[in-house]
Parts: sequence; structure tokens; C-alpha cells
Amino acid sequence: MKFFIDTASLAQIKEAQDLGILDGVTTNPSLMAKEGITGTDRVMKHYVDICNIVSGDVSAEVIATDFDGMVREGENLAALHPNITVKLPMTREGVKAIKHFSGKGIKTNCTLVFSAGQALLAAKAGATYVSPFVGRLDDISTDGMQLIEQIRTIYDNYGFSTQILAASIRHPMHIIQCAEIGADVATCPLSAITALFEHPLTTIGLEKFLADHKKAAQQPAAAK
Ligand code: E4P
Repeated sequence: MKFFIDTASLAQIKEAQDLGILDGVTTNPSLMAKEGITGTDRVMKHYVDICNIVSGDVSAEVIATDFDGMVREGENLAALHPNITVKLPMTREGVKAIKHFSGKGIKTNCTLVFSAGQALLAAKAGATYVSPFVGRLDDISTDGMQLIEQIRTIYDNYGFSTQILAASIRHPMHIIQCAEIGADVATCPLSAITALFEHPLTTIGLEKFLADHKKAAQQPAAAK
């Protein structure tokens, strides 16, 4: 399973990249706004900055909601860097734009997916990635992971090549469950990724190894 980081923060992207396990980045207009990145020129430069940190795919979301606007914006985004993936909303116009871009060999990510039917439409249009929002479904008392399972079954039934990019991941258990089900990608906040490192027995075990090593090193040579 690929690990993407779900942020527009260059510091967090660098930190995840330094861990050696990062495969890509997803952003959205809210994440860009959170970093204070506004205005077309700054937004475009920010995407290039992200692409210069990570070697994998970087999702850049269009703001337009009409087909012509999405195509215009998406083409400008795709021209920035070969790793840019044009992120388009799950709407009629968005699906038409996905079909347009897939015909041109431009990578796409269909975002705001909350049902299996929507995921089926995205795959039929030739989306590179489909983004089901697990956490936001959990938030309304609906099992987000069940949707990942449903989409996995449907895509496997027909051999769709669209990759399931589990989004709106909130905690490390979401990542584990995605891996068990067979999601192709999980896009996560840095905190959920780093939480995977933690286990109390690892901490205790390492402390004991180091203490034993120090004790042995302090003993006289004959007693060893
Ligand atoms: C990713 O592509 C989505 O934009 C993101 O995961 C949404 O996450 P949220 O529900 O935490 O805002």
C-alpha cells in the first residue's frame, strides 16, 4: 500500500519524505488555505515546491465547477510537473473532465466520493485514483471502511485499474484497516503515519538493550 501525506505544509511533507516511506501527496483547497497559500501564482508555485520534495504523485485540485473551466485549470496544473495529478470533484462535470483527461494520458484523482456508485462512475471514466472519504463517513455514523471494502470488491470484479486512494484518514487504525482490505493508497495526516512507529514494548525493549549494553561495558574485562 502506498502512503501519501494529506497536507499542503512543506515542513510536514519534508518530515514525511525524510522518513523514507512517502509515495506522494494530496492537497485540497482547504489544506492550501490553512497554509495561507492564496492567489493563482502562489498556488502554482506551491505545487512545484511540493513536487520538488517528493518523487511521487501530487494531487492538485481544480476550483472550477464547469467542464470547460476544469479542463482549462487542469491542463495548467498538469503542465507544472509530470507528477501532478489533477484532482476533480465527483460531479457530472467532474466525471466528464476525468474522461477527457484520461483520454489525454493526464492523471486524475476523483475526490469527494462517498458511495460505491460514485466510485464505479469514476472508474468507468478512467480515473487514475478514486478518493473515498473514510473519516467524514465515520463522522456521520456510517462505516467508512465498509465503503473501501465495497469498492475493492467492485474494482476486482471487473479488473478496473483505478487505484483506491483512501482519504479523510484520521488515525493509525484507519491505515491498518485500509491495508487489510487492500486499498492501493492511504492519504494520511503526518500524525497518523508517525503513530504507526509507536509501541510501548519497542520503547521498553530498546531501553533494556541499551542499559544491558552499558552495564556490560562498565564491568572489568575478566568478569565478562
Ligand atoms: C484528500 O484527498 C482529502 O481532501 C482529505 O483526505 C479530506 O480529509 P478531511 O476529511 O480530514 O478534511
